[in-house]
Amino acid sequence: MTASDLPPHFIGEILFSAETIQRRVRELADAIQKDYPDPERPLVLVGVLKGAVLFLADLVRHIQRPVEFDFVAISSYGAATRTSGEVRVLKDLDAPVAGKDVVVVEDILDTGLTLRFSYLIESLKARRAASVRVCVLLDKPSRRRVEVPVDYRGFEIEDRFVVGYGMDFGERYRNLPYIGVITFVEGEEV
Ligand code: IMP
Ligand code: MG
Repeated sequence: MTASDLPPHFIGEILFSAETIQRRVRELADAIQKDYPDPERPLVLVGVLKGAVLFLADLVRHIQRPVEFDFVAISSYGAATRTSGEVRVLKDLDAPVAGKDVVVVEDILDTGLTLRFSYLIESLKARRAASVRVCVLLDKPSRRRVEVPVDYRGFEIEDRFVVGYGMDFGERYRNLPYIGVITFVEGEEV
């Protein structure tokens, strides 16, 4: 989808400034570091592409112990702003996780369908990860359709469509250092 295919919209509000995000990310990193104090035990952060890339990159810079990165890509079919529940794993882990502690890193938890029906958590456990936890930057609990366990949560937000800091609208805005809310312009020809 190119920018010109998108319905008329603008970023109507900045929800979290770059400074606010960075402060919270550091707190999450501190919490993770506290929970995995033994540097001899392998810890893998598994980022969900593409939205979690900026979050994971900032998170690991505040963790002062060895960490490995890995990434999965999950596609969910549906409109640009909504998950349909049809989920496919496009890219699997690069390395085995057996015996390693794993933290799944996600940009935003909305309906929960993507994480739930990719069976990511189940497959990490089936591959004998030593433990599996979930870290999300944003959580929209009012939209949840299936339960997903969250161990680390950056911010709880209302049901609004947000972009920036990795998150997109039709592949736009991922590079913004802040998180903004999309406002749709009603009654205009596209
Ligand atoms: P879920 O399957 O509904 O929980 O949605 C999870 C995925 O949908 C997230 O990882 C995002 O990629 C995307 N998503 C959900 N809400 C938003 C939003 O407000 N802005 C951008 N992407 C979103
Ligand atoms: Mg995502």
